Amino acid sequence: MEQGSLPKHIAIIMDGNGRWAQKRGLPRVMGHRQGIQALKRTLEEVVRLGIPFLTVYAFSTENWQRPKEEVSYLMGLIEEYMKKEIHNLERNNIKIKLLGSLDPLPQKARAAVEEALERTAKKSGTTLSVALNYGGRAELVRAARKLAQAVSAGELDLENIDEELFAAQLDSAPLPDPDLLIRTGGQMRISNFLLWQLAYTELWVTPKLWPDFTAQDLQEAIEDYRRRTRRFGKI
Ligand code: IPE
Ligand code: IPE
Ligand code: MG
Repeated sequence: MEQGSLPKHIAIIMDGNGRWAQKRGLPRVMGHRQGIQALKRTLEEVVRLGIPFLTVYAFSTENWQRPKEEVSYLMGLIEEYMKKEIHNLERNNIKIKLLGSLDPLPQKARAAVEEALERTAKKSGTTLSVALNYGGRAELVRAARKLAQAVSAGELDLENIDEELFAAQLDSAPLPDPDLLIRTGGQMRISNFLLWQLAYTELWVTPKLWPDFTAQDLQEAIEDYRRRTRRFGKI
């Protein structure tokens, strides 16, 4: 079968960690710990396939409303991932990018993420964007504020605000929009992820829980994507 090209940018809503643990009679946080392994496998496969952009939803602006023990465990895991993986990331020429704001994070987690950002800033391989304390609506509000500020300071004319300039204010700039969005855990929703950027993204949802996600599942999603016809509103 004639197949379309590989996606350049894959975004993933890594969902189902809690259910994975609960099914095994484990505390939810053990699912988050296991989810790190799925992230490592997925990143490795993305690098192997030469896909330039992977974006993962790690913690939403709404996830702060979870019990504080779960939130602090997640913050600890983020810190641990950044510290333990930094050598691996550097060796594999991976550049870390952040979507969201680090301000409300505990100091240690923030420092670990900042160090990973600095140390990989000049890497030229796959970009791993981590959406951390990220919400699509918050990102859009930040972008609107930046433009409003420039207009009120007399640095920008209202007439010059177009889609390109707007997109350039988003945390995701200068990434291309995702070609493929994968959501594990079976839920058919966006959950405040990349609201602007997903306008014409192909969606692929699997009931598999994130800790069970394998390189083969990723390949399956990509194969499905390659069989699709993207019309972008045209015929
Ligand atoms: C996704 O898994 C990870 C985060 C939101 C941080 P969940 O923790 O949402 O797992 P489920 O959906 O409750 O199973
Ligand atoms: C989305 O999962 C956020 C992340 C994967 C980080 P949630 O579990 O928070 O989303 P809902 O509550 O099912 O919409
Ligand atoms: Mg969930």
